[in-house]
Amino acid sequence: MPHILDGRKVSQNLKDNLKIEIENIKYKFNKVPGLAVVQVGNVAASSVYVKAKTKAAKEVGINVFDYHLEEATNQSELINLINKLNNNKDVDGILVQLPLPHTINEEVVLNSILPEKDADGFHPLNVGKLSISPKNDEHLMIPCTPYGCLLLLRELNINLTGKNAVVIGRSNIVGKPMAQLLLKESCTVTTVHSKTINIESICKNADILIVAIGKPEFVDKDWVKKGAIVIDVGINRIKINEEKSKLVGDVLFSDVEHKVSAISPVPGGVGPMTIACLLRNTTAAFKLKYNN
Ligand code: GUN
Repeated sequence: MPHILDGRKVSQNLKDNLKIEIENIKYKFNKVPGLAVVQVGNVAASSVYVKAKTKAAKEVGINVFDYHLEEATNQSELINLINKLNNNKDVDGILVQLPLPHTINEEVVLNSILPEKDADGFHPLNVGKLSISPKNDEHLMIPCTPYGCLLLLRELNINLTGKNAVVIGRSNIVGKPMAQLLLKESCTVTTVHSKTINIESICKNADILIVAIGKPEFVDKDWVKKGAIVIDVGINRIKINEEKSKLVGDVLFSDVEHKVSAISPVPGGVGPMTIACLLRNTTAAFKLKYNN
């Protein structure tokens, strides 16, 4: 049987440790880290994520500043809000939930967040730092989903050096930063995507396969090497019948699980790790500000 990478358990551990760290911060500074969570519009999945992030932040003792702006909000209104949050001493981390409405330029908005408050690690300065900074830089703002995947991999206590890692997907949020993180672990990294030729055969060579394509149950056993480690980043809601739906990943779990040495499930794998890493980044931003 494969090792099931339990994201709920690992993220709970992380949150328990952060809670203690924040209690110590409060004792020392008479302050707690603050996180501003900004959502524009009402994309259903975003509302679910924002709610979960807000709840988890409060649980560990982070002060949450919630901003839910209407769909019709224009770019300069959003940037005005970000400027205010940039100047607010009680706000250590700023998260703008993506996607934004099409009328708003995401790049301009993400660039307007102060890099030291960029809880998602999406600002170009942090993207650059991720590629050149040494491994285990504790002040680095690391994009939350790939960081969560890495922490799940580390749970296996295996030597990642020299392993063939294949990342399916080249998004700025997951695929690209994931490849950077695996490179820092001295993996041999290949990124494949929708235009890759012979994608299946490349994936079949992977010791570590990270799947972030956004297609429900797309990767089956024919894509996977025997004994590989598979991390499933997908969160897709599919209909079972007229009334019922369920969450599935990008990997056909029931088909692949017999072939691999470890696999992350959906739900309960990467999802909770993403949230815990956001809380880690917010706390790291506070610590950097106060030289702690
Ligand atoms: N939308 C999907 N994933 C993410 C994420 O990690 N951060 C933000 N801000 N938006 C997202």
